Amino acid sequence: MKIAVIGTGYVGLVTGTCLAENGNDVLCVDIDTNKVKQMKAGIVPIYEPHLDVLFERNIKAGRLNFTTNLKEGLDFGEVIFLALPTPENEDGSADLKYVLGVAKEIGEYITTYKVIVDKSTVPVGTADLVKATIEKSCKTDFNVVSNPEFLREGFAVDDFLKPERIVIGSSSEKAIEVMQRLYQPFVRSGNPIIIMDEKSAELTKYASNSFLATKITFMNEIANYCQKVGADVDKVRIGMGTDSRIGKRFLFPGIGYGGSCFPKDVKALHKSGKDINYDFKILEAVVEVNEHQKTILFPEVSTYFDDNLEGKTIAIWGLAFKPQTDDIREAPALYMIEKLLEAGARVKAFDPEAMDNVKEKYGDKLQYGKDMYEVTEGADALLICTEWSIFRTPNYDLLKSNLKNPVIFDGRNLYPTVELAKRGIHYISIGRQKV
Ligand code: UDX
Repeated sequence: MKIAVIGTGYVGLVTGTCLAENGNDVLCVDIDTNKVKQMKAGIVPIYEPHLDVLFERNIKAGRLNFTTNLKEGLDFGEVIFLALPTPENEDGSADLKYVLGVAKEIGEYITTYKVIVDKSTVPVGTADLVKATIEKSCKTDFNVVSNPEFLREGFAVDDFLKPERIVIGSSSEKAIEVMQRLYQPFVRSGNPIIIMDEKSAELTKYASNSFLATKITFMNEIANYCQKVGADVDKVRIGMGTDSRIGKRFLFPGIGYGGSCFPKDVKALHKSGKDINYDFKILEAVVEVNEHQKTILFPEVSTYFDDNLEGKTIAIWGLAFKPQTDDIREAPALYMIEKLLEAGARVKAFDPEAMDNVKEKYGDKLQYGKDMYEVTEGADALLICTEWSIFRTPNYDLLKSNLKNPVIFDGRNLYPTVELAKRGIHYISIGRQKV
């Protein structure tokens, strides 16, 4: 099939590349000339495991191409994917200016039947709005489909190639048939393509992300409570997760969720409820508890140093909002950095992938290490903000000899408390019994 993908951000790039991998001809459109130039030269503009291999292969095969010319894309694609940003407005709602801007141009330009697919996370009713915007000036037949993405950063390629489910929101049989033909090769294992109306599809995305954010947040509150009553959240988590109705995943407490999706989507769903006088009380609490969760570790650090961090050096492992990504948007590490700097501490930071993004944000306000041990040399304490695999089995002896004080503040519960106590390391984690 001939596909145009409008917008080569995270979602667009993964969508375009994986559709090309499956034998489709894909033309990706972006207004950013530099980015398009880079991509044409085979450079992937984001870090995402395995994407580079697929990218190179499909460019070489001639199935993956790039342009800055929207009209060229609209001419080319039988199916037009909209993978445009929907940034957060000040009031928490999603800003649709990019989506509707392109819809207007589609209406003015297309002359043959097209399936317009909304891949961005958009509020309920957006497909109708896109349709109405296109209809204003359009002289040909078209359909708008809502097809939300459920990609996780760090696993996006796998999630796209082997999805647990595909959601298609459409009231047009013609468009549904096109979408089924496009996605059938990705669900040969038997995973479902779920057909529903546009509004339900749009809400499925918000409801899924909000539910997952709520699940994590619930566990964060249980962890905080464990700390107060002397229970151990690790044991509680396993005890709960073995009930298949609850499930083992997304029960890991920590210093809060971050990233480009959960924070934005929870707020957007809450705001869209407010707009129609529906008060999503749970979501309001989720936002509030998550903001608080980001703050819970700093007082532990501060108290350990008698509330005097002036001149102390704190090493940080992990800056990205989660492992397997270089994304630092809404990362809990950023809160810790701000607080430590405010308190007069020196921060030595290391992350396997996010260093460039952090350097861009903080410049010489921080010190940066080339590996995880270098930042601990001469540091007064180690703070862990992201659970990268390489942090899971450290060389404790080296760590102890590098640190001035054998103390670790762990926002991701990486180590067994008993073992660290045996090794003589003062270890503070989230919601676990102190040994
Ligand atoms: C999420 C959704 O999972 C995905 O389906 C959607 O398309 C985009 O948003 P992503 O933002 O990449 O994906 O991250 P995810 O792996 O879901 O983690 C989100 C946040 O929750 C991270 O900050 C992570 O550290 C945190 N988290 C996750 C926990 O704190 N505990 C857990 O048990 C799981």
